[in-house]
Amino acid sequence: TPIYVVTPTYTRLVQKAELVRLSQTLLHVKGLHWIVVEDAPARTPLVSTLLAQSGLSFTHLHVETPPELQRQESDPTWLRPRGVEQRNRALQWLRENRQPSDPGVVYFADDDNTYSLRLFEEMRSTRRVAVWPVGLVGGVRVERPLVEGGRVVGFRAGWRPTRPFALDMAGFAVALPLLLATPRARFDPRAERGFLESSLLSALVSLDQLEPKADNCTKVLVWHTRTEKPKMKQEELLGPEPNIEV
Ligand code: UGA
Ligand code: MN
Repeated sequence: TPIYVVTPTYTRLVQKAELVRLSQTLLHVKGLHWIVVEDAPARTPLVSTLLAQSGLSFTHLHVETPPELQRQESDPTWLRPRGVEQRNRALQWLRENRQPSDPGVVYFADDDNTYSLRLFEEMRSTRRVAVWPVGLVGGVRVERPLVEGGRVVGFRAGWRPTRPFALDMAGFAVALPLLLATPRARFDPRAERGFLESSLLSALVSLDQLEPKADNCTKVLVWHTRTEKPKMKQEELLGPEPNIEV
């Protein structure tokens, strides 16, 4: 079963480093197709070149987050969900380029998280929606689905565990046939804080249909790591070095 990894990405100092790291993880996964969607008015040369040299099977798309949905520097990070239009653009591509009978699993992988190779083998057998723990997220060491008798009965989450699906974006994968059979299923850009994942999943499954992976959700195979923004204090002093891509 092919795995479609959907990654929204945007231009900033650490972008290339993040994408090199993620691409070199993905190189180890068999049958993988990487859908990279830039939050930009056009595909950028940096990402185009990186993908062309990556050795991965990929699709390179772009869509700019509309200004009214963009988060300003001064806004708190939770005010607006990020990468939403980009993930929806990838869903549109899958619906236009794959047949309902095509096998596949779709995973939404942000460019800055840390992924164990074992995670991809866990998700490959997804029939509807598979779920697993995510480390270092939501103000806790681990957020995870609670499993009883092989079924998901709720969630351990630091914040509003009563959400319909109290999962981080990194904590689930969806079967491609289910996505193609449910054309209305998409991420709601106006979803309330923390309800972005629920906005997609509510259209696809009920709680009792979730498939717990990673030893009944007792193993952490993905970490919600975040990269520090580099300080560029000395850059102005030295002046520009325009011909070196970083
Ligand atoms: C958390 C969740 O883990 C994300 O899945 C969720 O999208 C995000 O919150 C949110 O606020 O909506 P966080 O680490 O805060 O993650 O978010 P980022 O990693 O900064 O962004 C998530 C993805 O969207 C990344 O792949 C990033 O490259 C992309 N992004 C971010 C854009 O495409 N455009 C932006 O303006 C910002
Ligand atoms: Mn992140």
